[in-house]
Amino acid sequence: MKDGGQRQYGPLGTALVIIPTYNEAENIKPIVGRVRKSVPDAHVLIADDNSPDGTGKLADELEAGDDHVHVLHRKGKEGLGAAYLAGFQWGIEHGYDVLVEMDADGSHRPEELPRLLTALKGADLVLGSRWVPGGRVVNWPKSREFISRGGSLYSRLLLDVPIRDVTGGYRAFRKETLQGLGLDAVASQGYCFQVDLARRAVKSGFHVVEVPITFVEREYGDSKMSRDILVEALWRVTAWGVTERVGKVTGGRKRPSPPRG
Ligand code: GDD
Ligand code: MN
Repeated sequence: MKDGGQRQYGPLGTALVIIPTYNEAENIKPIVGRVRKSVPDAHVLIADDNSPDGTGKLADELEAGDDHVHVLHRKGKEGLGAAYLAGFQWGIEHGYDVLVEMDADGSHRPEELPRLLTALKGADLVLGSRWVPGGRVVNWPKSREFISRGGSLYSRLLLDVPIRDVTGGYRAFRKETLQGLGLDAVASQGYCFQVDLARRAVKSGFHVVEVPITFVEREYGDSKMSRDILVEALWRVTAWGVTERVGKVTGGRKRPSPPRG
């Protein structure tokens, strides 16, 4: 419920850091080690899409040696969105109160996670943001920065969502927030999954806070960004925007209902 900042937030409880992986063999052990060191109470869930490079086996080794590490083996590459939806469901079923999204490649620095979690004490959803004052990217080609900034701007204007970094993937959700987003209806597969969840959170009236982060481009392995992922993002964002606008004009748009609890 939003009531002019007077809202009381419950304690955070235990966090689960979900790390989706597809061919991250060089990265998985270092990133899990850094998470465990930065936030020792948090648990980690690696959601691997049967990576051909053996990431899943390395994940099993980590799980065997640490009761805070868990692995979700998925049958094949189904996209970032599907991996996160499966991870969220696993985390909620296993009683976690906070669900964190983090890339495996070191772009989302685990050392910044305590800052995101502190911000979540007074929010429903915290977004690590490259495009707010204090946020930045390191070692990203200009072409990639252009796509990311352009994508955020396009989404922000078309969807009427007041977020600077709407495609970013370093996030902390309260469980109740995820439960209020209607995840069963999410069809986004690629990186537009991030835009989809951000827009749902805003439209549902949740308190979304952006925290500046330093995004460091990966040193090992390859980005999974592809033409298909870009095309999906462009058509979905455009379709959401047009649907909303048509709804507003015809008066058929439902008022966003406030989140429960
Ligand atoms: N399980 C699974 N399945 N994991 C995947 C898949 C998939 O199909 N595709 C990508 N991943 C994992 C990668 O292994 C990595 O851990 C994470 O998702 C991000 O993938 P990258 O390929 O490193 O993404 P990026 O660096 O190009 O993109 C980053 O910026 C995007 C735009 O801001 C990410 O932070 C994205 O989340 C973000 O949307
Ligand atoms: Mn990356």
